Amino acid sequence: MRILAIETSCDETSAAVLEKNGNNISVLSNITATSLSLHATTGGIIPENAARMQVEYIMPVVTEALIKTKGDINPKTKSKKFELAREILEHDIDSIAVTYGPGLIGSLLVGVETAKTLSYTANKPLIPVNHLLAHIYANFISPSSNSQISVPSFPFVGLIVSGGHTDLLYFEAHNKYTWLGGTRDDAAGEAFDKIGRLLGLSYPAGPEIERRANFVSNPSVKFKSPIMHEDNFDFSFSGLKTEALRFAQNNNLTEDTISQACYATQKAIIDVLVKKTLKAAEKYEVLNILVGGGVSANQTFRNQLVSSAKNQNPELNIHFPEKEYSTDNAAMVGAYALMNVKIKEWSDINANPELYFA
Ligand code: KG4
Ligand code: ZN
Repeated sequence: MRILAIETSCDETSAAVLEKNGNNISVLSNITATSLSLHATTGGIIPENAARMQVEYIMPVVTEALIKTKGDINPKTKSKKFELAREILEHDIDSIAVTYGPGLIGSLLVGVETAKTLSYTANKPLIPVNHLLAHIYANFISPSSNSQISVPSFPFVGLIVSGGHTDLLYFEAHNKYTWLGGTRDDAAGEAFDKIGRLLGLSYPAGPEIERRANFVSNPSVKFKSPIMHEDNFDFSFSGLKTEALRFAQNNNLTEDTISQACYATQKAIIDVLVKKTLKAAEKYEVLNILVGGGVSANQTFRNQLVSSAKNQNPELNIHFPEKEYSTDNAAMVGAYALMNVKIKEWSDINANPELYFA
């Protein structure tokens, strides 16, 4: 089965084509246009700006994802790329998947209405996808090269760590999961971004905080990991933001103190994520943990979760998506849809910014 997937829940505009053969899910194309440079100038996402850019990007991105499945196209056919994309959609694609929530309403509308129109005009079944579950299912995409990565198996604990969400779930099977806990205030990625802003770093700050933390060989600043010792699977990061604000107000912000604060921020966030995730794995007696979302691109977090897991139980397998599938992308939406084929009438699908775990 070959699927066209569309993702526009936040500031990215992404389209991908994936194919499933048995349990193997391969990505034939994954094209993402971002308006990040625009948001860097405003220090964060202004929803109307994001949606306006997505209106502009959506058809070129879908077109490119479709024609890339044919490899490099002949320059002569380039001028006819919309025609070629339409032919590929009609002849090679079996169904269409789209993120319908959660996210920004204007952004979601662009993807959902485009997918509905393509589904109707090309007569292809449509599969609505929850963006949060898609982050976890990025782990079901077959590895492009490293064949040593093991295939995820049930039951597993899923950790979603993105700019908008931090949630722990227990999965018994596809479509059979329990929410264990989540953030009471800011998400992990949001904490990286807001603290980065306090320190004068540009949006999104997660990658820059990681880069700066890597330079710190003698850590001298420590921030508390919030609700680390509470006996639950909840998180809270707004207190950390206040601690970082106090640090920024009481210290001269130099290259060195900024990097020290980056190190302390990253450590406080990672420590609590690792502790609660491993506690969930122990309590639910699982041997697999699947992590997804933008913060899962953080290499220090990956290393720490893997080494702490090995200490807890050498049989634990930790799964992370390839880094290009950690942050928002359409391939993960296609992977979820291919593993959970649940077709819905196009007229019954609506963008749902508040969608959570049903
Ligand atoms: O999953 P995602 O692309 O979008 C949402 O669904 O929110 O996540 C974006 C978030 C941002 O907050 C960004 O700062 C964070 O992921 N992020 C990172 C790293 N790369 C992206 N946080 C820490 N370290 C990174 N390397
Ligand atoms: Zn996301």
